[in-house]
Amino acid sequence: MAAPVQIDWYDTPLYYDIIFDEDTGREADFLEAVFARHGRTRGRAVLEPACGSGRLVREMAARGWTTDGFDLNPAMLEFARRRLEADGLSANLWSDRMECFRTKGRRRYDLVHCLVSTFKYLLSEEDALGCLKGTALALKPGGLFVLGLHLTDPACKRPSHERWTARRDGIEVTCNTRTWPPLPRTRLEPMRSRLRVSLPDGSLREQETKWEVRSYTASQLRKLLRKCDDFEVLACHDFRHDPAEIRSFDDEYSDLTLVLGRK
Ligand SMILES: C[S@@+](CC[C@H](N)C(=O)[O-])C[C@H]1O[C@@H](n2cnc3c(N)ncnc32)[C@H](O)[C@@H]1O
Repeated sequence: MAAPVQIDWYDTPLYYDIIFDEDTGREADFLEAVFARHGRTRGRAVLEPACGSGRLVREMAARGWTTDGFDLNPAMLEFARRRLEADGLSANLWSDRMECFRTKGRRRYDLVHCLVSTFKYLLSEEDALGCLKGTALALKPGGLFVLGLHLTDPACKRPSHERWTARRDGIEVTCNTRTWPPLPRTRLEPMRSRLRVSLPDGSLREQETKWEVRSYTASQLRKLLRKCDDFEVLACHDFRHDPAEIRSFDDEYSDLTLVLGRK
């Protein structure tokens, strides 16, 4: 087979959506459960920064939430909009960047969430703080910011690897992701993702994306949060997204989901 096509995988939203959609229902159940437990506001308005293909936008809108989201990738936004329309659902979607978004003039939210390590796309402390500040301004006092990201073990010198397959409408997508240890000075982790797509007509497509994300240990994340006085840590979970399973905010495990309360 020919060498994989080099592409930003977010330019192929359908394949992204197929590969990540399996967890959507469980993640939405989790968001609703932690909101019921920790949220101190009365409304049901939710914002998803970097909403991607809109899998969670659609799910939350279908559950009756007033739903907003933004992303910088036009293909993702277009995919999300079309699907909402096809499903007879509505959400307010726009083009924006996590590091500098402001929702002034739009509504204020009861819940903001940013799962699956998307926050790590903010490559500098300044950008990460910009996102926290935008989120704090967007939330009502007592609202929640649910933030999920993979932590990095600085002692691990080998690349980590994940591979999984998902199917929809005769399309099979296998995702092969490799993450290298971060460079100590920049904290940036090189990543490579390969998608192998088998289409209903029997043809195969292989595409590859290379990028970098900002790494975090638990103490680096704590330090960042201390620089932004707007949030308090209310609970910590992991990517199993089991609301009954409370974890500690430390480096004992690699996939952390924080429930932050807007002061
Ligand atoms: C891993 S996907 C997550 C999508 C969605 N939140 C979900 O849970 O499926 C990451 C998304 O972040 C978007 N993105 C990356 N950097 C961004 C930035 N600085 N501002 C806004 N969106 C960004 C990408 O276009 C992509 O859609």
